[in-house]
Amino acid sequence: MSDNRSSGASYGLAGRVAFVTGAGSGIGRAIALRFAREGCRVGVLSRDPGRAAATAAAVEAEGVVAAHVACDVAERAAVAPAFAQLEAVLGPPHILVNNAGIIRFGKLLEIDEGDWDRVFRVNTDGALWSCRAVVPGMVARGYGRVVNMASWMGKQAAPLYGAYAASKFAVVGLTQALAAEVAGTGVTVNAVCPGLIVETEMRRQSEAVMARRGLPSAAERVATIPLKRPGYPDDVANVTAFLASDQSDYMTGEAVNVTGGLWMG
Ligand SMILES: NC(=O)c1ccc[n+]([C@@H]2O[C@H](COP(=O)([O-])OP(=O)(O)OC[C@H]3O[C@@H](n4cnc5c(N)ncnc54)[C@H](O)[C@@H]3O)[C@@H](O)[C@H]2O)c1
Repeated sequence: MSDNRSSGASYGLAGRVAFVTGAGSGIGRAIALRFAREGCRVGVLSRDPGRAAATAAAVEAEGVVAAHVACDVAERAAVAPAFAQLEAVLGPPHILVNNAGIIRFGKLLEIDEGDWDRVFRVNTDGALWSCRAVVPGMVARGYGRVVNMASWMGKQAAPLYGAYAASKFAVVGLTQALAAEVAGTGVTVNAVCPGLIVETEMRRQSEAVMARRGLPSAAERVATIPLKRPGYPDDVANVTAFLASDQSDYMTGEAVNVTGGLWMG
């Protein structure tokens, strides 16, 4: 098989407690399962209770302990209690992955105000509220690995992607500022910037919008990717596992591309 979809080598995460938001589908689910295969105890946070339970069951099928909670990360008051619920079962987290995210399309001069607000509330505010719930404990314990899911659109915007791209630029900025603020405490904060990742809900939603607007599909855009294949959730999970490990000790405030060369900046 030319695609590398393996779960990769171990990053020495056995026994760590990892919380993953938006883990009910796509990239977040792949990250939760990757942590499970590493031997982590995994806290699954998802907006949808059924999906949270399904991912937690898949995690437990790997032979590790899981906990799950339903929470909308955009609801500020709900976020800290949701993480507290995971912590009550699993113990204090070593790893936080802020992966929950949504996309809305529209030209900036026309975009629906509600869509603009919602994208920022989930993608940017959601990451901030999650960090505020979890990172102080990490700082107090002297250890933590935070990984925020940004996007290559957090480095290079494009027409129709204005709200999404601006929210992801903000995630990169938030990552850098928090990394600097907690530097020296044992907590590192990095971001991952995936490119065109298939087999996720967001990709299916994006493909439907592209088709309606007569824009190129993911399959057509693969020709523009230097590695000549789309990305898969496991590609992102592999890099996330590295950033969640002690092997990335000397990295903080980074925004690491996982794009097959689509974006090199
Ligand atoms: N698929 C891609 O090409 C791509 C590229 C770059 C970045 N990303 C980012 O990767 C992350 C995961 O996306 P995906 O492609 O796996 O899509 P996805 O839709 O399968 O996953 C997003 C998850 O976030 C959850 N979520 C959405 N709003 C939430 C909320 N308010 N509270 C809690 N959970 C919420 C969803 O239920 C879903 O499980 C997102 O942050 C996305 O922006 C995806």
